[in-house]
Amino acid sequence: MSYMTCIEDLRQTARRRVPRAFFEYAESGSYAEQTLDANRADLENIKLRQRVLVDVSNRSTATTLLGEPASLPLALAPIGLCGMQHGDGEILACRAAHEAGIPFTLSTMSICSIEDVASSVDKPFWFQLYVMRDRGFARSLIERAKAAKCSALVLTVDLQTLGQRHRDIKNGMTVPPELRIMNLIDMASKPTWALSVARGKRRTFGNLAGHVRGMEDVNSLTRWVADQFDPTLSWKDVEWIAGLWGGKLILKGILDVEDALVAAKTGAAALVVSNHGGRQLDGAPSSISALPAIADAVGSSIEILFDGGIRSGQDIMRALALGARACLSGRAYVYGLGAGGQAGVARAIEIMRSELDATMALTGTNSVADIDRRVIVAA
Ligand code: FNR
Repeated sequence: MSYMTCIEDLRQTARRRVPRAFFEYAESGSYAEQTLDANRADLENIKLRQRVLVDVSNRSTATTLLGEPASLPLALAPIGLCGMQHGDGEILACRAAHEAGIPFTLSTMSICSIEDVASSVDKPFWFQLYVMRDRGFARSLIERAKAAKCSALVLTVDLQTLGQRHRDIKNGMTVPPELRIMNLIDMASKPTWALSVARGKRRTFGNLAGHVRGMEDVNSLTRWVADQFDPTLSWKDVEWIAGLWGGKLILKGILDVEDALVAAKTGAAALVVSNHGGRQLDGAPSSISALPAIADAVGSSIEILFDGGIRSGQDIMRALALGARACLSGRAYVYGLGAGGQAGVARAIEIMRSELDATMALTGTNSVADIDRRVIVAA
């Protein structure tokens, strides 16, 4: 994998190896993809200050996240259907994250279940919760995450309804995959992928199958899922969930200062400034443009995590400079997974680690705690 020198290399390889419907599922944003594009464009517009003749021989990318040591200010974001990018994708990504010394987040919409992952790794991971109309099911997911000793619950709050991704509809993206002739031809031309998925533990939503009421009479889990996201979810429910969970809670999907101020008062350990990777409200500001005002407003009352468009260590530096404690990586590690399973995810993390390390040196920064707005060229 050492010939893969940047995240774009992993992306190009994943594009060749993963069936089109699943690759495009990962790539896409909602509607006209304006917010998806803005996430990248606005990050690229932030210029870093080149500083020289500072002794940077003792620099370190290590930090703490929710009070736990992390080798990098990075965690892997929750990604639905990871196990469709590569068989057992969630287990492989979790192992790669743990070996690199950073947290992994398992999505509610994963292919491998909470129990599959817990029994295959030796350290706790984070679990991401979508609250569905069936509140008994949300309660049971929380209990399962507790039983699996998950170390944080990431409550995603920006999915009141599903943002439409045009390409998913055109590709017949369902789970299990809709067996259209085009999809079959495409999958047949991706033998490494087909073998890995065939050998994997599961081919459908692992946390849902066999646990959901009414599942027996729907033939596609995807249709059930789309109907199940709960538009009544409110701040009251956050209290209910915090009470049931009792551990470290992270609120993911905050993009507005007013919401951030409320989030900071819930007792949650962290919030994630996020627009769901441009997959929900199209026309929303980029995550990076929303970050500084949120960081200023909440101060140190809650840890601020960030995601949306992170594709390099330079991007991590930009987000930290604007007030994030750490970043979540979504697509960057998904490309690694599609390109090469666990080794590909490890490579994605290593690429971003070494880029951050070099960026720290070239901006005259020795520690993650030293990164602030001074590393950025004033606009
Ligand atoms: C996501 N995201 C997401 N978020 C979440 O809370 N639960 C989920 O199941 C998913 N699923 C998912 C699938 C795919 C394919 C993508 C690309 C994203 C959002 C994700 O956690 C994160 O917020 C974004 O991916 C961050 O943006 P980047 O890093 O992908 O640009």
